Amino acid sequence: MSRPLPGVFDQALASAVRAPSPHNTQPWRFVVEHDVIEVWLDRERLLTVADPHGREARLACGAAAFNLVICLRANGLAVQVRMLPDPAEPDLIAVVRLDGNQKSTAAERKLAEAVFRRHTNRRPMLDKDVPSAVRSALKSAALQEGGQVEYLDASGRYTPVASLVRQAEALQAEDSAFRAEAAHWTHREADSPDGVPKTASGPPPHGHGVVSLRASHENEDLPAREFEREPLLGAVLTRDRGPHAEVRAGMAMQRVLLTATAEGLATSFLSQPFETPRTRASLDRLFAGLGQPHTLLRIGYGYPTRLTSRRPVEDVLTHRAGSDVPAE
Ligand SMILES: Cc1cc2nc3c(=O)[nH]c(=O)nc-3n(C[C@H](O)[C@H](O)[C@H](O)COP(=O)(O)O)c2cc1C
Repeated sequence: MSRPLPGVFDQALASAVRAPSPHNTQPWRFVVEHDVIEVWLDRERLLTVADPHGREARLACGAAAFNLVICLRANGLAVQVRMLPDPAEPDLIAVVRLDGNQKSTAAERKLAEAVFRRHTNRRPMLDKDVPSAVRSALKSAALQEGGQVEYLDASGRYTPVASLVRQAEALQAEDSAFRAEAAHWTHREADSPDGVPKTASGPPPHGHGVVSLRASHENEDLPAREFEREPLLGAVLTRDRGPHAEVRAGMAMQRVLLTATAEGLATSFLSQPFETPRTRASLDRLFAGLGQPHTLLRIGYGYPTRLTSRRPVEDVLTHRAGSDVPAE
């Protein structure tokens, strides 16, 4: 049986909490027992209006599990990962168990290092195309985790998806509960341990872009800026649907985001159409035959923006009684 080196679990957990999550809710907690780390969904942190079933929260937990795993592997540790292993415990997202040593690869080390640079960039992107070799690298990243990236320009779905983003945005603007929930989690101070700080918001768009940032993620203190008219948009899909597919999609999404970061790309999300039932059903129909869409990523080149904070690891970590944690 393997035994974690002192400090390796600390580093892995510090990586895990750098995962993206809707409105930076950080809907996760971790339990360490000897050579195992469990990733749990924290239901207290669900967006009850935008994400009542925890779909986006499971994507975030899948991303956190991916960060854990890539950090352990980059440190020369082999791991076994079981996703949603216990039907009686649907909130147990993943069990990551050490499984001996294994030489790390340069690719693993590159992704593990990108964990601490990846962030959501809500500023306009530069007028520079993403080369086809890089587009292919992102597709391969998703495939490696059992997911899929479908570029909307290549698939002829750009215009209908952009229209669903706008429709969802309009529906959400009319929904006072939605607006209140978004207001609660956004426009925070820069050092807020959760939620989206104003410093991570984008400038208001000048004129009407083809796709829009969320109104709640605009910072009115910044002058309006022209956004790119047709950003590269990639949908993350899985073959199946349901909680298991959502965790897998979260892992695939995170490998894509870290690969993009390592390639010098900026990324952001457009989740509005997933959050209203009508537009989500239309999205499902649009991708029927290809797979289940889980999230939509905007990908391009941009100037890095500020990282957002996280709650300290101690706040989200429990050591299970009897766990044999090596002394530091
Ligand atoms: C499933 C999911 C959906 C998200 N949807 C949006 C979105 O629609 N708009 C947006 O600007 N950011 C979105 N985000 C990004 C989060 O707001 C962001 O991850 C969080 O604030 C933490 O910031 P960071 O990504 O810069 O570390 C989403 C993140 C996840 C995981």
